[in-house]
Amino acid sequence: MSTSPVQTKPMNTDSGPSPRRKKVTTLRLKEKKARGEIISMLTAYDYPTALALDQAGVDAILVGDSLGMVVLGYENTLPVTMEDMLHHCRAVARGAKYPLLVGDMPFLSYQVSVQEAVRNAGRFLQEAGMDAVKLEGGRERVDAIRAIVGAGIPVMGHLGLTPQSVNQFGGFRPQAREAAAAHRLYEDALLLQEAGCFSIVLESVPTRLARWISARLEIPTIGIGAGPGCDGQVLVTHDLLGLFERFTPRFVKKYADFHGQMQQAFQAYLAEIKAGIFPGPEHSIDMPDEEWAAFLAALGDDSQAGE
Ligand code: KIV
Repeated sequence: MSTSPVQTKPMNTDSGPSPRRKKVTTLRLKEKKARGEIISMLTAYDYPTALALDQAGVDAILVGDSLGMVVLGYENTLPVTMEDMLHHCRAVARGAKYPLLVGDMPFLSYQVSVQEAVRNAGRFLQEAGMDAVKLEGGRERVDAIRAIVGAGIPVMGHLGLTPQSVNQFGGFRPQAREAAAAHRLYEDALLLQEAGCFSIVLESVPTRLARWISARLEIPTIGIGAGPGCDGQVLVTHDLLGLFERFTPRFVKKYADFHGQMQQAFQAYLAEIKAGIFPGPEHSIDMPDEEWAAFLAALGDDSQAGE
């Protein structure tokens, strides 16, 4: 089934914080860096979250392949497919009007060949309403990045802890803590900038390294577990909301306990239906007496059942 961008574009209302808001572009992110203004990014995988993030005024929404862990229940991001990503990107695009929308390219959608990388990157824009794509890796991805950018598709890079390489790293662990690895990461950042990335995510790397690199790049860095010296910050929204209980990285701050609140709400519902409190009259549909009488009379039923 093909879904055109026309179908995916906003069903959003215009109730954002400022009536003069403009759609955020990759250029706006660069301008923010130049002005020293922090860039905000969070993940979303569905319509209501996209709507709430848009109305909160976030600059960019990442439809991350973290989807695999926090929404689909996989151990890591490796099983996530292009179809999974496009499905969730479409939902986000229907909810978010102003933020820059970035679709995360899943494992094996850009590593096999440059041609496949361009084709798959294009699907995020053509079929799923995204404005840009993100992909993981350094020097080994430069050819793919050049080709995708050459096709007119903005690319966000991702260095440091790149979760699609979790098996190579031997787990989700901080990266570039040794001088040689830090040097390599800096070189990769320069190569990605040169290849045309409009921004780079730095994940789980030392604060001082992230600050040092951010100061030397022209394009903005977006940090996650990389300290306050980056040009922007991103978190997985399910971590921030306390919705994902399986494990919480050290760099996450929980701003809410939605899992706990869900438990409370579900338990209250169970208790109320057992006690006959819900549904009450205010949640129930009435039928005029004469219609009810006619219904029973037509069936020859004088039991008054249903009263
Ligand atoms: O998939 C994701 O959510 C990400 C962020 C952690 C940056 O890549």
